[in-house]
Amino acid sequence: MTTNPVTATITKKTFGKMSDGREVFQYTLSNKNNISVGVINYGGIITSIVVPDRNGKFEDIALGFDTLEDYKAYSPYFGAIIGRYGNRIGNGRFTIDGTEYHVAQNNNGQHLHGGLKGFDKVYWTIEPFDSDEGAALKLTYLSPDGEEGYPGNLSVEVIYLLTDGNEFKILISATTDKKTIVNLTTHSYFNLLGNAKRDILDHQIQLFADQFVPVSSTLIPTGKLESVGNTPFDFRTPHTIGEGIDSTHEQVQLGLGYDHTWVTGDVGVKKKIAVAYEPTTGRELTVYSTEPGVQFYTGNFLNGAKGKNGVVYPKRYGFCLEPQHFPDSPNKADFPTVILKPGERFHTETVYKFSTR
Ligand code: BGC
Repeated sequence: MTTNPVTATITKKTFGKMSDGREVFQYTLSNKNNISVGVINYGGIITSIVVPDRNGKFEDIALGFDTLEDYKAYSPYFGAIIGRYGNRIGNGRFTIDGTEYHVAQNNNGQHLHGGLKGFDKVYWTIEPFDSDEGAALKLTYLSPDGEEGYPGNLSVEVIYLLTDGNEFKILISATTDKKTIVNLTTHSYFNLLGNAKRDILDHQIQLFADQFVPVSSTLIPTGKLESVGNTPFDFRTPHTIGEGIDSTHEQVQLGLGYDHTWVTGDVGVKKKIAVAYEPTTGRELTVYSTEPGVQFYTGNFLNGAKGKNGVVYPKRYGFCLEPQHFPDSPNKADFPTVILKPGERFHTETVYKFSTR
């Protein structure tokens, strides 16, 4: 157990073994308000987020599994670090300086979330990280040149930090020795009711975005940005998820619900991008990020996997707010660039702040 100058603690226990015998631990970060976050070496996965409701009842608002075997067998990226490229790349192809690279077409002919063995399935080295802001872990992974078809040795560092102000900060940085692409993100599925008691359709969502990124039937962007005005994508004021999720709007139909990127603003500037609120428990999640977009995904592909404590997760029992660059950016010259060059450092920060009202 490590105790730092704040009142934070970190505990560590065995969670399982990789197939090569490396031991996977579960670290639990807690703050002075007894909020806690569980993290494992496999995929850098956030396995639990335990927060109070407005009456002080603590429950887990993150979807996940009790065992490493379940994560390996069925996880739809629950809580994982996603890389090298979060979201889709059209036809699994992109070109850098005239060289065409091919990456796995692991999703309906498209590349999704880093390929067959993305960062959600690798072993992350974890060590407690010295921070006077709260309980913190440093996770590192060196992705070798050519891994999953991507160029360059990519050295990745993720800091998970839980503050006494009830903020969970995720700081991701990366460097490369060859020009490459990166779009690193985090993939927690939330259900603010706690222990995923029901679907998420009565949650209220606010997204601070005037535009979204329309997609084709393969969920690859058309390349244009569209105003959210007068569409079910307008969450500039709070709306329940259920209100527009079965709309006949073509984009909602293509996404089988919400599975789109909203345009949140300038790259590198930390801003409030989203608020999710669950009225019966009063739990609220506010998201800040330095990313130009956020993927709001409403668990449309969840299929009833048996999760933690025997809780089952059918369709729409969790939602994700994944701050990231736009899908297929490597093939869309007008989208903010995802190129990382030697000598540069990729950096992204996401904050999930927990409160009640
Ligand atoms: C994507 C979905 C995908 C899901 C996989 C989300 O980030 O937007 O399209 O099915 O990840 O679990």
